[in-house]
Amino acid sequence: MKQIVDHIAQTRNVALEELAALLTSEDHEALQYLFGRAHDEAQRIYGNKIFMRGLIEISNHCKNDCLYCGIRRSRQGIARYRLDKEQILECCQQGYGLGFRTFVMQGGEDAWFNDDRLCDIVAAIRSQYPDCAITLSVGERSRESYQRLYDAGADRYLLRHETADKRHYEKLHPAEMSFDNRQRCLRDLKEIGFQVGCGFMVGSPYQTFETLYQDLQLIRTLQPEMVGIGPFIPTAETPFADRPAGTVDATLRLIAIIRLIHPHALLPATTALGTLHPQGRELGIMAGANVIMPNLSPVAHRKDYSIYDNKLASGSEAAETVEDSRARLKLLGTEVPADRGDFQ
Ligand code: 5AD
Repeated sequence: MKQIVDHIAQTRNVALEELAALLTSEDHEALQYLFGRAHDEAQRIYGNKIFMRGLIEISNHCKNDCLYCGIRRSRQGIARYRLDKEQILECCQQGYGLGFRTFVMQGGEDAWFNDDRLCDIVAAIRSQYPDCAITLSVGERSRESYQRLYDAGADRYLLRHETADKRHYEKLHPAEMSFDNRQRCLRDLKEIGFQVGCGFMVGSPYQTFETLYQDLQLIRTLQPEMVGIGPFIPTAETPFADRPAGTVDATLRLIAIIRLIHPHALLPATTALGTLHPQGRELGIMAGANVIMPNLSPVAHRKDYSIYDNKLASGSEAAETVEDSRARLKLLGTEVPADRGDFQ
């Protein structure tokens, strides 16, 4: 098993059989070796730094009906909200004071945030916070729209590919959504010059070793600056409400494998990991993650951004407790600077 880990680290690639072996292994010593090598690799490139991003959930309105998602269009039982420009700028102001130098505006695909409105907000943040990175995560848009947002001052864009297998994609999404369009979006974002993040859920329904293998191959060809992965968490009032959740363990193994095949990636220890395990974030970092994304959204709306059940929005996931997080992460030998944390 250790030889497999060494082979992945040397070749920056993983074979399907190696992936399956690592994901099913019960050799705990070898798994610690995997996590250790991945953590070392992150430290070799980024030192002992963990970068933080302030997450601002700007809208839970969404035109899409993804089968797994708790803010899907057809879900009735949740209060819908959107933030206005002033509220978003207040989040940034609070975040800046707490040491955040990246703001991530994330939301459902909400037509209210058309190009004019979103560009206006991006430009305002860009002029008020010239030393900060602006990340957008607002789904699929036209190439022209992405270009306008980039020209307005956005630096980065997160768009999880969800799965690199077309047939799998079609089982997770309604017929009106298209695998090809999602891939087109990722290519356009890259070509325009965004730092791009792709990613997927671990343990999503119908996921197999083969689909995961394709996810890893997509990372090798796309060379994204960021990769966000977290366990699938079943959510009430969605078609996948009764499916089993993904596991913390499989997520950690995949974080480590991604670190080894794509060592420069910025890899978050995601909220979904923290939701399933009280030390999820620390475990993620010890397995090769190097980014945390505390929640900067207005407290009153946090519970409504319910992309999955029991999503953590307090404690270590809340931006207000960032000093706490700093102290906890210091115990791991890492530090959390007030830094944009760009891809290196
Ligand atoms: N469990 C875990 N992650 C989810 N996401 C959406 N729904 C769920 C869920 N039920 C992820 C998707 C999406 C990101 C914003 O959150 O991968 O891209």
